[in-house]
Amino acid sequence: MNKPFNDVFLKACRKERTPYIPVWYMRQAGRYQPEYREMRKKYSFFEMSEIPEVCAEVTRLPVKQLGVDAAILFADIMTPLKHIGVQLEIKPGIGPVIENPIHTEQDVSRLGELDPQTHLPTILEAIKILNQQLSVPLIGFAGAPFTLASYIVEGQPSKNYHKTKGLMYSAPDVWNALMKKLGDLTVTYLKGQIAAGAHAVQVFDSWIGALNEQDYKIYVAPVMRHIFTELKTTGVPVIYFGIGAGHLLEEWNRLPVDVIGIDWRTSIRSARGRGIDKVLQGNLDPSLLLAPWELIKQRTREILDQGMEEPGYIFNLGHGIFPSVKVETLQKLTSFIHEYTKR
Ligand code: CP3
Repeated sequence: MNKPFNDVFLKACRKERTPYIPVWYMRQAGRYQPEYREMRKKYSFFEMSEIPEVCAEVTRLPVKQLGVDAAILFADIMTPLKHIGVQLEIKPGIGPVIENPIHTEQDVSRLGELDPQTHLPTILEAIKILNQQLSVPLIGFAGAPFTLASYIVEGQPSKNYHKTKGLMYSAPDVWNALMKKLGDLTVTYLKGQIAAGAHAVQVFDSWIGALNEQDYKIYVAPVMRHIFTELKTTGVPVIYFGIGAGHLLEEWNRLPVDVIGIDWRTSIRSARGRGIDKVLQGNLDPSLLLAPWELIKQRTREILDQGMEEPGYIFNLGHGIFPSVKVETLQKLTSFIHEYTKR
């Protein structure tokens, strides 16, 4: 028997009044869960996200286990790139590794176009299955062009993005062609997820904080405006998230997005104080999940008090859950957030 649909998260995305503050967690499906680790013994990462029934099961797990107000599709920001000619692997303990990094105009022109129906039918099928099973909204997602570029240009995770920025500064035409290809991919992929039934989408621009405001405006803002303008036509809420991107918030506030996801370096109150009037999502430092419960509770309460000062707030972490976090901590945290914010 299905529970009534919980639309608290979607209401918050639209800045409507909610009976309590909704919560979900980035990387809420992952290796911190014993059930995930068990399944991962049987399947590779990409098998888990591309066998529809397995993807649906992993996506549902944190909803059942933690009681969160939204599900996020189990896949990766790198998933669609495999289908446009990027040879990639997710290496344990490292992350995405690319065999044929993109450096030249020819490399960019060799990248194909994504057709979600042809390339990713299993992901669309998983979304359809989830829509029948879930009683909370399903968040679809994709990587943003800069963050995707940071992997496919560097060839692996990077700390300083020298090659990526080097390409951007030294070959702006190649860079813009790459941004256009990746921007179109993001739009097509997310529109496919929305058509299949995703209730909201998040665009992960995790590494964008590496750019200053000037370079963001020149090299990245145009493609982001294009993406968000296209997504706006679908009518579903759009979330834009980045790490260490507090200095870009004024720029982001000018983009046609509904929700801005921030990390722990910028407080909710200071973001609002700077005139950021989008719905805000965040921003507990995930490392705090290793702290004693009293400290977790204190810091969470401080964030919630700020969030509740104005409508339009969704609780989340400032970045993803990592493997050493305990399931019980997140269970307690979710209940605490719901209890503390009930009005
Ligand atoms: O539960 C969810 O949040 C949905 C699934 C999801 C994954 N990755 C699963 C995953 C989402 C939304 C992502 C986004 C993602 N992937 C981002 C943006 C968010 C962020 O964390 O900054 C980025 C940069 C990636 C790229 C990526 N994928 C990295 C760096 C890694 C390895 C990191 C690590 O923890 O080892 C991955 C692999 C990955 N993606 C795993 C999961 C659960 C671990 C894979 C495994 O089981 O071995």
